[in-house]
Amino acid sequence: MSETTFAEIMNDAGNVTTRVQTALTVNGRVRQLDLDPRTSLLDALREYLHLTGTKKGCDHGQCGACTVLINGRRINACLTLAVMHEGDEIVTIEGLGSPNALHPMQAAFVDHDAFQCGYCTAGQICSAIGMLAEAKAGWPSHATADVTAPSTALTDAEIRERMSGNICRCAAYPNIVAAIRKVAEVGER
Ligand code: FES
Ligand code: FES
Repeated sequence: MSETTFAEIMNDAGNVTTRVQTALTVNGRVRQLDLDPRTSLLDALREYLHLTGTKKGCDHGQCGACTVLINGRRINACLTLAVMHEGDEIVTIEGLGSPNALHPMQAAFVDHDAFQCGYCTAGQICSAIGMLAEAKAGWPSHATADVTAPSTALTDAEIRERMSGNICRCAAYPNIVAAIRKVAEVGER
């Protein structure tokens, strides 16, 4: 769907009364957008910028399919407005690697067969990268036995808990955990 058509549909429904000029930095490139201020970041990425690697599952913050990285932190793109992110560094799955030079987390998902249909995979990978940064920074999780410890070993239980916001309806969880554990062990770079 083109940007114009999407906007027209919104107008036909009587929902658009104001437009906002917004500049988003996505995968290192500044993109100028003319948006209804109520547009979620997820819809801005998919419907306006045509970055369809980021998926819409529930549109309610419950499945994690829409996870992207903003300034290195994971976020559900369906739960935040695009206009709130001028000046932020937004990274989607398209910005993590290329077919000939996969990001280590992408390569680990391939090596460990960590997907079936692939619908959740972009969100899983972005979330996993954000999660590893959180763990590296010493953030505890609900599974952390000693929350005062400066660091926590990323056991399978820790990985499962920290990735619990990302649902996989194909139930590829054991392989997803194995892929993330591999990257945690060898490092991202
Ligand atoms: S689409 Fe955003 S959490 Fe499900
Ligand atoms: S691989 Fe199908 S939903 Fe996760």
